[in-house]
Parts: sequence; structure tokens; C-alpha cells
Amino acid sequence: MSEHEREEQESAQQLHAELTDQIEAARYQYYNQEAPELSDARYDELFARLTRLEEQHPELVDANSPTQSVGGSPEAAFTPFTHLERMLSLDDVFSLDEVSLWYQRMQKAAGTSEVPVTCEVKVDGLAISLLYEDGELTRATTRGDGTVGEDVTANIATIKQIPKRLHGEDLPRQIEIRGEIFLPLKAFADMNQKAALFNKEQEDLKAAGKKARPKQKIFVNARNAAAGSLRQKDPKVTASRPLRMITHGLGFVDWANGPQTQHGWYSQLKEWGLPVSEETERVYSLQQIYDYIDRIGKKRPQISHGIDGVVVKVDQISLQKQLGQTSRTPRWATAYKFPPVEVHTRLLDIRVHVGRTGRVTPYGLMEEAFVDGSNVSRATLHNAEEVVRKGVLIGDTVVLRKAGDVIPEIVGPVVAARDGSEREFVMPDTCPSCGAKIAAQKDGDVDLRCPNQAYCPAQITERISHLGSRGAFDIEGLGDESALALTQPEANRDEVAASLVQGQKVLLEDGNVLQLREAEDLPHAEQILKAEALLPAPAAPILSNEAPIFSLTSEDLRDVMTWRKKKDCWVQVRYFWSKGEKLSAAAAQQAGSVFGPPKEGKTVKSLMAELEAAKAQPLWRVLVGLSIRHLGPTASRALASHFGSMDALRSASVEEIAQVEGVGAVIAQSVKDWFSEPWHVEIVQAWEEAGVRMADEVEASRPQQTLAGMTVVVSGKMPGYTRESAKEAIESRGGKAAGSVSKKTSVVVAGDGAGSKATKAESLGIPVLSDEDFDSLLQSGRELLVSRGLLEDVSEGTD
Ligand code: IVH
Repeated sequence: MSEHEREEQESAQQLHAELTDQIEAARYQYYNQEAPELSDARYDELFARLTRLEEQHPELVDANSPTQSVGGSPEAAFTPFTHLERMLSLDDVFSLDEVSLWYQRMQKAAGTSEVPVTCEVKVDGLAISLLYEDGELTRATTRGDGTVGEDVTANIATIKQIPKRLHGEDLPRQIEIRGEIFLPLKAFADMNQKAALFNKEQEDLKAAGKKARPKQKIFVNARNAAAGSLRQKDPKVTASRPLRMITHGLGFVDWANGPQTQHGWYSQLKEWGLPVSEETERVYSLQQIYDYIDRIGKKRPQISHGIDGVVVKVDQISLQKQLGQTSRTPRWATAYKFPPVEVHTRLLDIRVHVGRTGRVTPYGLMEEAFVDGSNVSRATLHNAEEVVRKGVLIGDTVVLRKAGDVIPEIVGPVVAARDGSEREFVMPDTCPSCGAKIAAQKDGDVDLRCPNQAYCPAQITERISHLGSRGAFDIEGLGDESALALTQPEANRDEVAASLVQGQKVLLEDGNVLQLREAEDLPHAEQILKAEALLPAPAAPILSNEAPIFSLTSEDLRDVMTWRKKKDCWVQVRYFWSKGEKLSAAAAQQAGSVFGPPKEGKTVKSLMAELEAAKAQPLWRVLVGLSIRHLGPTASRALASHFGSMDALRSASVEEIAQVEGVGAVIAQSVKDWFSEPWHVEIVQAWEEAGVRMADEVEASRPQQTLAGMTVVVSGKMPGYTRESAKEAIESRGGKAAGSVSKKTSVVVAGDGAGSKATKAESLGIPVLSDEDFDSLLQSGRELLVSRGLLEDVSEGTD
């Protein structure tokens, strides 16, 4: 491999790992929680990039790649249930040209130009599989990872629209009916409105010093609300939400009398009493498909549920069978996705944000706009080049879009709406948080970074909030706001002082009210000084980096105060502890405060308990929590399982790290660089002293990593092993167990009935061992091959 090829390979590997991480995180969010972080459009884009990358680099595809599974893995809370037949997904297309290409393939397969297809709306909800046995609903399961889902029968049973028993006489022995669960848009809006009202009432109660109930969740869109409603532990809660269903297909069917067409099946399902879509149509040409897409696109606002596209399916079941499916999707169906919803709003300002690894990114601050289900006022602009590329100016009217979910995007300016007052954004050359000079880390980087990683307050806050996040230590009480309270309690002080100058009041925690009087005649700068002097002395942060986070005591957090903006004034709030009791007038006078001593409330107690629990998290989560650049959860898992302990990782060389499957040179170098900073090592030490686990428990019993960096294909029978246990034996020794032979294969072990794999290996010049050698291979790995003369003795980096 030439130097250039190697570099290209490594950057492809790196990109593959990054895309995989992002997609996995998004999938986890999508399937297991109610608030996705990535928008659908961005997700689709990531997925498309990964697919393209794998087309160019087939060697990067492995069984764990997101392209090889439907997505999501079932959560432990509900009982897992294996679908009788795998639940497939659909390949999305975004242009009419792609629909046309698909239809051409169908025409070719059918051998005729007129292929009947059903056109259906793509319901924006959650997939469900209903198992009916002899007509009785016996099981309802979510999709999960496509193979195993979660048993939500009790919750589904609360949906009146779904019959417990199929109507009619001649019924299948077993049938899996698939469809989509959704919340009608009106019901969703009502539900959120009610929750907002309830929350407001509770806030008022709280403000009045009365007992308030916990706030209710506001959902970002109808699909998340449906997911949240279905995945309730208590079916009574599900029953209170007006969930609906539309059926759109079948899984396993044990019935000789089934219809021969897709639309025939819809009639059958309807007869049985199941809900089918009113919008479905059977058509016979590409033009008719286009017309349907056009018509539904226009009708979209009148449809009672969310739709994100149109699904087209071959009508003849026999032709569906002939066309078959890939591992993820049927070839006989395609999903055309509507372009994202766009609105216009004003770009008020472009500001910059400093991320946890120092990346300084511009973002747009906009006049709040309602787009696709929620209010948006910020959107990232990624980097200065992107601002130029988009051609947006501060003050512009801009096109803003969101594809059904939370991450909004500024598409570009509405040039015709300019009046000359707009101005260009200038990327600052210093960090807005610490003032350090910002620069690209190396030539050619588009991103600018603040180099002051040790002391930049913004970076510290971001790192602390990151280590609390779900992908790292998973500490519920440690998010953006609490990280800010711990590291920059005075973050809003300037705004508070400015509000005093504007004549507003400031409410202090002890009950005192501040107001600036008789200062109007002074120059502004002096007024600000006066306001500053009126405020209590600025508080020092509790944390000046993440090292002491796991040694914090509740007592340390007692007096942490932050500034919070209320409707017409700023209020000082005790962040972690609760306010003391209101005192009688006499007691108040004596204490010099309206309130008694603060109380150690639930907030701080649960944060302490969570911090304690987090110390036992597995090593990969500790690694993610360190905010090492480029190191996401996938690579962290790989490193943790390879090295087993922080010490082993720390003392490994760049080459050793880079050898780990799924970890390229970029990550390896970044990890090594990270450990070479003394203050980083101090963080690890402080965490370790506080009791954070620095080695995975299995380490003691972990076999030697004899197969590190090797790809082993086992074919045929291995005496003493099942397929699974052979795979596990390989993986536990650091090897990769692959199912098919390729140039990347290091060795093939052929047992009885091995067949073509051994032949293929031989033709590629790959060593082949017999089943009797399997144990020796596990024991000595590469050495065995060298001793047999099957491999040259090059000790490092042969892969
Ligand atoms: S057919 C074997 N039809 O969209 C084909 N799916 O993005 C499987 N969906 O997994 C699905 N409306 O959960 C089909 N009319 C429709 C649909 C539909 C919504 C969902 C379904 C699927 C996902 C794929």
C-alpha cells in the first residue's frame, strides 16, 4: 500500500467510524427516547454518506455497520419478543428521478410496461407488529432492531381502533399484521397545549411558595409524542392518549387463502376490522405515481396525521416474492420523501459558540419562527466558510427549514428582501469566552479552535455537560444548565447589570430586591459600574475543570447561585439546594433574611446519588467522558474491549492503538496526544481517586489478545464449538469473526462441510487451517501461521 493509499484508507476508516457513531447516537435517540437530536434530513444525509462510503470502500462494511441493520435496539424495560418474520424498512428516495429508476426496474422484472402498484401515504409514526393467532390478538411488538422488538401488548390493547379479535370466519392460524401507530396532529397540539398550561400553573404555584406538582413533558413533534405515549410502563397513561393506527403490510402469514395482491390485502384487513388508509390508490404508470405524489403533497395539511412521504409498492404478491429483499429493505417498494418544510424569518445576529473540544462555530440567532411543529430561534452555521457559502448577511430574511425534527437549518437568504441595512458577519479572531486567539489547528482545516483547553470557561462547561450526557456517564442531573451553574455561575451577570440600568428590578435569593435609582443622568458606562456595585460580589465557580467532579459533596453545592431570567426581571436562584422556609417577621429581622437556612432537597440528593452510581460505569463510558477529540462511543467501546483498562490504553503506542479494529491513526494519535498533557492525566487520577472505575471487570479473566488485528473466517463444523461460541472465542481474543472470505481475511479455518470458502481463500492466497488447528490458533494467533510457514514473520502492522 502506498503512503497515499494508506492515508486515504485511514481517513475513510476514520470517517466511517465518525458516521457510524453519529448514526448510532441518533438511532438510540430516535428509538429509545422521545427527543431526537438529529433531524430526519440530517440523519438521512448521514446514512446516505455512509452508504456511499461503503460502496467506495467495501472493506469497511461489517455486521455492525448501521447499513446492515434496520436500527434501534430494544430497551430492557419491556420484554423482548422475536418477530416471526423480520420487520423490514424502506429505502428512501428524494427525487422523482429516483422513483422513475425504481419503476423502470419493476417494469423490467415484470416484463411489461404497465406494472400495477399501490400508492400510499407514508405515515409518520412508529412501526408496530400485531400477531393474531386463530383470530385473537396475542402479541403487539415494536420494531426494535427489526428482529427483536419490545412487547407492548398491554399498551396496544388500550387502542380501541385495534380489534382484539378479527371479524369473520375463515381466519389464518397465525398472521403478523404490520402498521404504524401515530397521534393525530390535532390531538398532539392539544396535548402539548394542556401540558404547557399545567406547567405554567405549577410555576405560579411554586412562585407563590405553594406546593407544585412535577412538570409534564412537552413533545417536539407528534411522532415523539406517540412514541412516548406507547412506551409507558403504565397502560393507563397510554389509554389516556388518543393513539391511532394505520396498517400497511404483513409479516409472517400462515394462511392458504391469502389475497394475491397488496390492495387485495388492504380489503381483507379492512374486512377483519383493521384500520387502513383512505388515501391508498392502485395505479398503473409512472405518470400516475407522479400525480399521486403531487396530489398528496398538496393535500398534506388537510390530512389528520403527519406524513413524511409516499410509499409505492408492487401490487402483485407473486412479483413481490420474485423481486425479494436485501437485508434491510424489500426491492418491491420505495419511499419518496417530501422535501422538508421551509419558512422565512429574520436573521438577527450571527454569534459564535465554543464547543467542548474548542471548536468555535458560528450560529444564527433568528426571530422566533414556528416551523414544522416547534419554535426555532437558533441554527448552527458550522463554520465561517459555510456562512460565506450560504451567502447570508446579518439582518437578512432567511429560509429556515426543519425536516420533521429538532435540528433546524438556515438554507440561505431571500436576496429580494434586502434593503441595504444588512451587514456581513466577521468571524472573531479571539475566543468569545476566554479571549484566547483562535486559529485552525492545521493548514487546510475549516474549523477554528480556541487553544485554551485547560482554562477556557466555555470549553470546561461544555465538557462537564458532555460527561453527564447519555452517551457518556449518563448522569441525569448533569446537563447544560447544571454544568453552567458549576462552572460559570455568573455567566449572565452582564445582562443582569444591564437590566438594572434599564430600570428593571433584580430579585435576590434572600428576598431582597435591587433597583438602580437616580442614575439616569450618568453616562452609560458609569451606570453599568453602579449596577455592578449594587449586585452581590461575583461568586467563584465550584469547578474550574472536570477533575474534581466525582469528589463533589452536597455541602460544596449548598450556596451555588445562578441568575435566571423571568418575564420582567432577573432572579437570583439557589441552583442545587432548595430555598429555606419563609421566616416570621421577627425571625426574619434577626436573621437579616426573609428565608431560613437552605435545605438539602431532592435535586442535590439525586445528583449525588447519580454521581456515585456513575463511578461504576464501564470503561468505554469513562473514555467518552474525557472529551478526547475524535473519540466517540464506537471507538471507545473498541478501545475498552481491546485494552481493558485505562492504564493499558495509556501505555499503548500509537501503532498499537491504531491496530484496534475500528480505530484509525487519527483517533490513535489524538488519544496519545491527549495523555501527553499533564493536566489531562490529573483528571484521570482525580477520577480514579474518587472511585471511578478505570478497568472493566472482565479484565482478569480476559484471554490474551492473540488475534488482535486479525480477521478469521470459520467455515464448516468446529468440533467442540457452536457457530456462536466459535465467534465469541475469536472476538474475546481481539479478532474479528467474519462470515465471508475477502482480501482482508487473515486466515480461514475449515471444518467438515466448509465448501467454497476454503477454495476461495486458497485462490486469494489466504492461509487455510483445519478444524483441528482452531484451538492452537486461538492460543497463539499469528505465531501459529508464522511457525507453519503460512505467513512471513513481520511483527507489526501487516494488516
Ligand atoms: S411498508 C416491507 N408502508 O416507514 C415494507 N411502511 O421508513 C415495510 N411506514 O418501517 C414498510 N407508512 O414503519 C410501509 N404506507 C407505508 C408506511 C410505512 C409508514 C413506515 C414503516 C417503515 C418505515 C420505513
